Amino acid sequence: MFKRVSPYIGEYKKYTVWATILMCIGIIANIVPYFFLYQIISPLTRGEHIDASFILFRVVAVAVCEIVFSISYVQGLTFSHISAYNTLKNLRISLQGKLEKQPLGNINELGTGRIKKVFTDDIDQIELLLAHAIPEGIANIAIPVIIIVLMFVFDWRLGLLSLVPLVVGMFAMGMMMKSGMEKMNAYYESAANMNNTIIEYVNGMEVVKVFNKDGDSYKRFGDVVRSYRDFTLDWYKVCWPWMAIYSSVLPCLVLLMLPFGSMMVLGGTISLDKMVLVFCMSFAVGPSVLKALNFAGKFPQLDYKIAELEKMMEHPPLKEGTSSFKGTDLDVEFRDVHFGYEDTEVLHGVDLSLKQGTTTALVGESGSGKSTLAKLLVHYYDLDSGSITIGGQDITDMSLEALNDQVAFVSQEQFLFNTTLYENILIGKPDATKEEVLEAAERAQCNEFLERFPDGLQTQAGDGGKQLSGGERQRISLARAILKNAPIIVLDEATAFMDPENEEKMNAALDEIVKDKTVLVIAHRLSTIKNADKICVMKEGKCIAADIHDNLVIDCPEYKKLWEASVSASTWKVREA
Ligand SMILES: Nc1ncnc2c1ncn2[C@@H]1O[C@H](COP(=O)(O)OP(=O)(O)OP(=O)(O)O)[C@@H](O)[C@H]1O
Ligand SMILES: [Mg+2]
Repeated sequence: MFKRVSPYIGEYKKYTVWATILMCIGIIANIVPYFFLYQIISPLTRGEHIDASFILFRVVAVAVCEIVFSISYVQGLTFSHISAYNTLKNLRISLQGKLEKQPLGNINELGTGRIKKVFTDDIDQIELLLAHAIPEGIANIAIPVIIIVLMFVFDWRLGLLSLVPLVVGMFAMGMMMKSGMEKMNAYYESAANMNNTIIEYVNGMEVVKVFNKDGDSYKRFGDVVRSYRDFTLDWYKVCWPWMAIYSSVLPCLVLLMLPFGSMMVLGGTISLDKMVLVFCMSFAVGPSVLKALNFAGKFPQLDYKIAELEKMMEHPPLKEGTSSFKGTDLDVEFRDVHFGYEDTEVLHGVDLSLKQGTTTALVGESGSGKSTLAKLLVHYYDLDSGSITIGGQDITDMSLEALNDQVAFVSQEQFLFNTTLYENILIGKPDATKEEVLEAAERAQCNEFLERFPDGLQTQAGDGGKQLSGGERQRISLARAILKNAPIIVLDEATAFMDPENEEKMNAALDEIVKDKTVLVIAHRLSTIKNADKICVMKEGKCIAADIHDNLVIDCPEYKKLWEASVSASTWKVREA
């Protein structure tokens, strides 16, 4: 397990080593006073006279030992925490780097609950390993070993007697770990499941409240919470009896030493002072062993968490090239594109070409694969087979940065960062001037709502952009894309949230933005894409026709149907009572 974590410790390994050394020194400083105690008790038991200075010297020595213990323990903990928190930082940064290279699909599959748990809770648990379990654990094992060896040196019979409770306690601990391990995986699965369900429930609270208060979602919530309780209790029930045995036996090494030791003193086979010393030392063993074993008990849990972490890191990363953009022009070619989320294929061999400087529209029934095709162009996922090229260069051949420079994507699901709207637009071009940002906001028709906000562009977007309406969010995203000014633009339902008046304005803005660009636009309202240079009709994951509007209404019955539905929807009114 340490091996798994050690690559992330890097240069901080020396702090862990020093922490261990200091803690050993600290614990030795804790044992030495027993010898001074012995030196005082020994003459007393024999009724010998001792000088006050003899006692004073030893009392001062005990005090010095305690100071050494405190200083080395505190310094040891400081070093171990420096190493631990820097390792956690390295782990989180490395995990973030790996997640960034993952296809979005894999991230969705893991669930935000699980990702959050790994990023925060699980990685935090590693602090226990590095800051405490390793340095303190090693020190707490080393010290009992030294003491027991010393006990054997003083009197091997007492040494042997002290081992009996140790063996019983460790056996109980071993049994607890063995039976606990069997339940642990199920317990963690259940914890992760609860995490995901709770986050999903909270995120979807709006939907739950409106539609389904007592329904499926609430039931699922209740089920996972109950199942988590059952697993936890089940796990503890197995562990409790063993825990009771080792917690009571381990601190009592004198259990057998006391009767047998007393008999040995009475029989004259050991001196009283020696026995008192061995008794005193035995009290230092129990707590140390208990502490070390408690850490040992945490190791399987940590092992599970690190394995989970690695599983997340081990997903094959997105196929990403390192080249810059070397395309000869800005034509986009989809060739025989096959793609599926998890196991079910949703695109079955799509061929489509977007000519530089033209607008191509994707239309089709809901679920026909339009958004999926758009996301593939911005390399959200790797294809199962086929290829997508820009100017002849495969998009997997170029770095994501190079691809991002060429393509701007305004997606169906808008996400804004929880910062100001200004910063959110600036993401499109981080070195843009204030004037450029204002112009982009104006061209995306943002001014209409920005004027209503007292803080204008300095308004906070809220968590994920929740403080804005769908249409407002979409226009901010559009402003971002305008500022980016990439030569290829992908617009997925860019006007979906607009009311008719704003839609008109937006369309005018869009017309201007898309001038001279290679554009892929997805729209449900077919009136908005009627004049596109090419319209591709998608059906069940295939492009069944691609032509201009006038030809399609005649030649393509599917398109005709969509067109008629779109026209009747635009004149649709709620019937007056
Ligand atoms: N993240 C996902 N995981 C699994 N399946 C998905 C995912 N996203 C979409 N799908 C499935 O892929 C198919 C195509 O979805 P897509 O979003 O591309 O459709 P669309 O044509 O954009 O639909 P709409 O017009 O409703 O936006 C659908 O059957 C959908 O259920
Ligand atoms: Mg869609």
